[in-house]
Amino acid sequence: MPVTTIPRDAVIDWYTRNRARSAALFDMVSDQAYYERPILLRHPLVFYEGHLPGFSFNTLVKRGLGGASIDPRLETLFARGIDPHEAQADRSLPSWPSRAEVRAFAAEADRRVIAALERDDVERPGHPLLDRAEAVYAILEHEAMHQETLLYMWHRLPLDQKRRPAGYTPRVDGTPPPREWIEVPPGRAALGTNARAVVFSWDNERPETSVDVNAFDIERHDVTNAGYLEFVEAGGYRDARWWRPEDWAWVEREQVSHPLFWEREGEAWFWRGMFDRLPLPLAWPVYVSWAEAAAFARWRGVRLPTEAEFQRAAFGTPDGPERRHPWGDAAPSASHGVFDFSSWDPEPAGTHPAGRSAWGVDDLVGNGWKWTSSVFAPFEGFTPIPSYPEYSADFFDGDHFVMKGASPATARELLRPTFRNWFRPRYPYVYATFRCVRDRGARA
Ligand code: AVJ
Ligand code: FE
Repeated sequence: MPVTTIPRDAVIDWYTRNRARSAALFDMVSDQAYYERPILLRHPLVFYEGHLPGFSFNTLVKRGLGGASIDPRLETLFARGIDPHEAQADRSLPSWPSRAEVRAFAAEADRRVIAALERDDVERPGHPLLDRAEAVYAILEHEAMHQETLLYMWHRLPLDQKRRPAGYTPRVDGTPPPREWIEVPPGRAALGTNARAVVFSWDNERPETSVDVNAFDIERHDVTNAGYLEFVEAGGYRDARWWRPEDWAWVEREQVSHPLFWEREGEAWFWRGMFDRLPLPLAWPVYVSWAEAAAFARWRGVRLPTEAEFQRAAFGTPDGPERRHPWGDAAPSASHGVFDFSSWDPEPAGTHPAGRSAWGVDDLVGNGWKWTSSVFAPFEGFTPIPSYPEYSADFFDGDHFVMKGASPATARELLRPTFRNWFRPRYPYVYATFRCVRDRGARA
């Protein structure tokens, strides 16, 4: 028996749960949509059915353990997803295999990954991919992250191409909370971690990094649809003053006049939910691109938080030591916030008081990722992760911004203080909201 300290049962259980959830997500959509690209910048659905098991097989079995191929053509076809620039949306596309072929490949990849997890030596000290079983956790987190990709793609499909899970209705009760500022005193915030201090971290979370943060005020709640409506009604999308030049060019070129999740009918506003078109739920956090969040903040005379300010608001405490979650050390549960697929849509802001941070700030983890003003960049001493060297490094281009926290479609395994997410500033599809900060003493 190979010597191993990784909890085999737990990782096999996680892999199996991941695969079952991905299968359930594919079952929610009609066959008609299989070769569609609901988001032109991403591949069609078929790619993801192959990519999830294909990436796991390529990374752990082939590259990590030196295992044999299943089908080199499909392994290459399904190797990597994309995040291209706006201009590349109509690049030439591969011709995709039949669904039966994809499923046969996926089933064989699963068999080989599970066999490896059951009996191979997947943890090897000093091995580039298997030290501390890094490739095992990389494939598990990769699939969990893509379940969120799937959901925000499914979100754009016509409602009649999706099956609603039995018993689900969006939670639209509640009135928008009033705007409230909370003071956060100066202090230190940890942004990154030492690889040895945690079971697994991505390269962009390392090494251990911390910074001093000045005093600031932060809004207690996410900006709601009600709050954002004021900006829309004040003509915010018709006034170049609030936008960076490149973002204003996008507003003009694409004729953007409101958040992508909103729809207008006469004088009335609606929200495009996962399974329903709803009269705009005023108490829900607004979901917007970074460009729209930044324009709103500028209009209000405030700003988006830096990544360090987010950390301090979410995980800092008056006594000094930082917490594992805003609410403390307790394992994440549905009472703490809207994450881990507990809902297919957001819920009203401020309805999870058990998840409040030490300063009394609500919903920092859950109900939508939070945009920050920080450009996605490596911490000093960054080295690419051997199991997926392009994972972060390809995106250190100055045109991606850090999002923190979690959305309804973020798996609980990804909830840790150092986890970083990132997207381009004009990518409006993701479950991302924001809240504003201001320097202490400023009035807005
Ligand atoms: C970290 C969520 C930005 O979806 O593009 C999945 C994750 N990278 N496969 C993405 C990812 C490669 C990535 N994000
Ligand atoms: Fe991927």
